[in-house]
Amino acid sequence: MKYRTCLLFSVLLITLLLKPSPALSEEARPPNPPPKAESLIISCGATEPETGEDGQSWQPDDKYLTSTSGGEPKAETAAFQDPALGSAVPFMSARIFESRGGYEFAVPTDTRVMIRFYFYASTYGTLDAADSYFALTVNDYQLLNNFSAAIASEALTQAYIMKEFSLLPSPSGVLNVVFTPSAGYKGAFAFVNGVEVIPMPDIFDDSPPLVGIGDQTVDLTTYGLQSMYRLNVGGEVIPPANDSAGLRRTWYNDFPYLFGGADGRSVYKKDVKYPTVEVPEPVAPRSVYTTSRSMSEDPMVNQKFNLTWVFQVDANFTYMVRLHFCDGEMTRANQRAFHIYLNNQTAQETADVIAWTGGKGIPIYKDYALYQNDKSGGNLWLALHPNTASHPEFVDAILNGVEVFKLNSVSKRSFAAPNPELSEMMSRVEDAREESSFETEGGGQVVGAIAGGATGLAAVVVVSAVVLHKKRRRTAGKSSRRSGSSNNWLPLYGNSHTSSKSTGSRRSTNSSHLSTVAQGLCRHFSLQEIKHATRNFDEAKVIGVGGFGKVYKGVIDGTMEVAIKRSNPQSEQGVNEFETEIEMLSKLRHKHLVSLIGFCDEDDEMALVYDFMANGTLREHLYKGNKPPLPWKQRLEICIGSARGLHYLHTGAKYTIIHRDVKTTNILLDGKWVAKVSDFGLSKTGPDLNAQAHVSTVVKGSFGYLDPEYFRRQQLTEKSDVYSFGVVLFEVLCARPALNPSLSKEQVSLADWALQCQRKGNLEDIIDPLLKGDINPECLKKFAETAEKCLADAGVHRPSMGDVLWNLEFALQLQENPKSAAAAAAAIGQKGGEIGGGNGGGRRRGLSTVDEEVSVLTSDDTDDSEIFSQIVNPKGR
Ligand SMILES: *[C@@H]1O[C@H](CO)[C@@H](O)[C@H](O)[C@H]1NC(C)=O
Ligand SMILES: *[C@@H]1O[C@H](CO)[C@@H](O)[C@H](O)[C@H]1NC(C)=O
Ligand SMILES: *[C@@H]1O[C@H](CO)[C@@H](O)[C@H](O)[C@H]1NC(C)=O
Ligand SMILES: *[C@@H]1O[C@H](CO)[C@@H](O)[C@H](O)[C@H]1NC(C)=O
Ligand SMILES: *[C@@H]1O[C@H](CO)[C@@H](O)[C@H](O)[C@H]1NC(C)=O
Repeated sequence: MKYRTCLLFSVLLITLLLKPSPALSEEARPPNPPPKAESLIISCGATEPETGEDGQSWQPDDKYLTSTSGGEPKAETAAFQDPALGSAVPFMSARIFESRGGYEFAVPTDTRVMIRFYFYASTYGTLDAADSYFALTVNDYQLLNNFSAAIASEALTQAYIMKEFSLLPSPSGVLNVVFTPSAGYKGAFAFVNGVEVIPMPDIFDDSPPLVGIGDQTVDLTTYGLQSMYRLNVGGEVIPPANDSAGLRRTWYNDFPYLFGGADGRSVYKKDVKYPTVEVPEPVAPRSVYTTSRSMSEDPMVNQKFNLTWVFQVDANFTYMVRLHFCDGEMTRANQRAFHIYLNNQTAQETADVIAWTGGKGIPIYKDYALYQNDKSGGNLWLALHPNTASHPEFVDAILNGVEVFKLNSVSKRSFAAPNPELSEMMSRVEDAREESSFETEGGGQVVGAIAGGATGLAAVVVVSAVVLHKKRRRTAGKSSRRSGSSNNWLPLYGNSHTSSKSTGSRRSTNSSHLSTVAQGLCRHFSLQEIKHATRNFDEAKVIGVGGFGKVYKGVIDGTMEVAIKRSNPQSEQGVNEFETEIEMLSKLRHKHLVSLIGFCDEDDEMALVYDFMANGTLREHLYKGNKPPLPWKQRLEICIGSARGLHYLHTGAKYTIIHRDVKTTNILLDGKWVAKVSDFGLSKTGPDLNAQAHVSTVVKGSFGYLDPEYFRRQQLTEKSDVYSFGVVLFEVLCARPALNPSLSKEQVSLADWALQCQRKGNLEDIIDPLLKGDINPECLKKFAETAEKCLADAGVHRPSMGDVLWNLEFALQLQENPKSAAAAAAAIGQKGGEIGGGNGGGRRRGLSTVDEEVSVLTSDDTDDSEIFSQIVNPKGR
């Protein structure tokens, strides 16, 4: 290790000597990539090596356990695998410490060590993570104290908690990791699912200025750091396997942390000189520097706003904020100069990336330190504003990446902070929401939800049903107070209802109908490009026709297959629906929502460009498609996927979004049979539509799927979508259309007919004959019950989409593994997840809400990441 570090250093030195200013010179050769650190990647409680989702191998932990008098600590398996975990490794096995115990790791004596811990709050044997409180120390660092993974998971709506630290070199060559169950809790224990120990080159070796306090600096070489946030600004999520120098960090997308409606534009520039001496590989992967976010293109607008990110942090600690820059657009100094503010204080009077680096596409990072007192409500504000004092050519600002680290307290070398307070977080979110009324630009959406989430968004997921159930009992009082009101405490995406005044800028060539925000988020196609893609709207390329016009199959960028929806220029309604769709979809990214790649709006032609769905609509695979029948399990998975998409619409975005036209032709299937909800032309947003709220509107939608209550009262709630989804469920089960006028009167409407059969107990008779024998009876029972509840006459008696999702997932378990699913249900004292009848659908049952949204961004789904890169790579700007 030492030898390699030396080698690296000499390489750097030589490079330096040969080229006094290599970063400035065009032909500067990047230094050799640093050696990969020898890392320990450990799955605690595992008995043999296991392979994680990304192919990473995780070793068992037993040989690192410190010997204790009480014998080897227990290894246990989690009772339930949260569907949001993505991978069983390292989460399903755990090491349990019922008394003080831990690990010893041999590490190099001369390098910092990155150490990461994973905690999945579940039930382990007889132990419930809700009873786990513990302290964690490593050598003389106090990393955690009185830590509850269950509370943190619930408060942050994460399936698991990850804590990451970079510790100073340990002269003894040993990391002594000690878990101590909290005294004062009867039966308290400690547990851990995974540990990663990764020696790292010293990338924290400068002395950043302490913002707001004269010219004091903070010497980073004397501190351990805890990673709080790490964002690839304007870019996609970079998963551990794609991090540089084998450090296995995750870089999240910054969008959820942006404050206010002003989100500027993201820019992708491929040509980046990387790595350099100033920015060697361990600092950040290349992708961080290829994507950036800058302000709008209107200088007047930019004068009036700050590009702002807000981070929830623990008070009474010093933080180091590392900003990554790389300007791929400017070429000279004083073209783009801006102020950097941290907590409303000037951190940098004039930031001019080109002046710093000497050229286009050269990366650089800057560190700033600041003390976070407890007056600022635990929010750390980062804001950029153009500095016009020196009359730069453009009124703009730019940022490529941001990391926020907590420094250990000096007195105790501690990072420990209290457990997050759920109720407090909730009230903060509520307050923020009240401030931002529906019509205004509304800000404050980046709040408690993502608190503490160094670990952040990827993990922002579902709390396991098991854990949640327990917690629901524990916090029953609190949650009932919350129910029905808060849809907004998850990481939120800007205002889905945008007003063009929010940033105001318009590119003259662009649509006059669309908000800048929407424009900024989507790729803009010229009519020429659209014509090229569709061979001048070749009739042979038509794959669908609707009231709005035709849908063509096309090809862009040489090979990418897309679906292009062209509006009928005669139809005014068409134009409105197009706009709705762009506004909605450009803001929503979810694995189970169809992805909008971009749009064209030129010469009275409007066209929307979507990801191409190779397998077409769900309907054509059920009947009328002459396609091979789908097996039951696959149908169930498609239902679950669509339920997730709808659940996300209802609860995951800033405002409840009601789809209004849920039907089997609006559920599309991609090449991998992933269900995607499409067609948002009729969607409505409302300011937090809870059980009481409603949007009154003209009745729209499709017959056969229409909520009778909506029809009677013309009041729209998200329960109307639940009703339509109930029809979809029966359609999937019975493989017949929602309306079939050729049948006898009582059978015309599938909803009526299926309900009648279900109530009489002869549903079996109308099930798709091709499914006979394929459905486990328990699964069928659960599925039919769920569909029936969806069709309840009154919206308040229908379950929320979250409940529907829970029940469908349970039905899938019953199908796949009836015994263990029933046992798991018994273990948590729940009868297979009874459907909670309409508490307004407010309190989600910890079911997948943001997980897919995140999984889109985490790009474990390559399709989605491709699209994302399309979006951040708007050609022809
Ligand atoms: C991660 O790396 C793999 C292999 O190099 C690549 O295929 C994938 O696109 C990368 N993903 C991201 C998000 O960069
Ligand atoms: C921060 O320190 C102040 C003063 O010592 C104390 O009153 C406050 O409770 C602390 N806040 C937190 C969150 O620890
Ligand atoms: C910074 O200013 C914003 C409003 O511009 C305010 O809400 C916030 O509390 C301020 N933050 C601090 C740390 O003073
Ligand atoms: C930008 O933020 C700084 C620091 O908080 C503040 O002084 C300034 O007024 C803000 N500017 C705008 C236009 O909001
Ligand atoms: C431990 O954490 C719990 C939950 O946050 C809190 O109620 C309790 O007061 C804490 N105990 C100590 C000793 O700090």
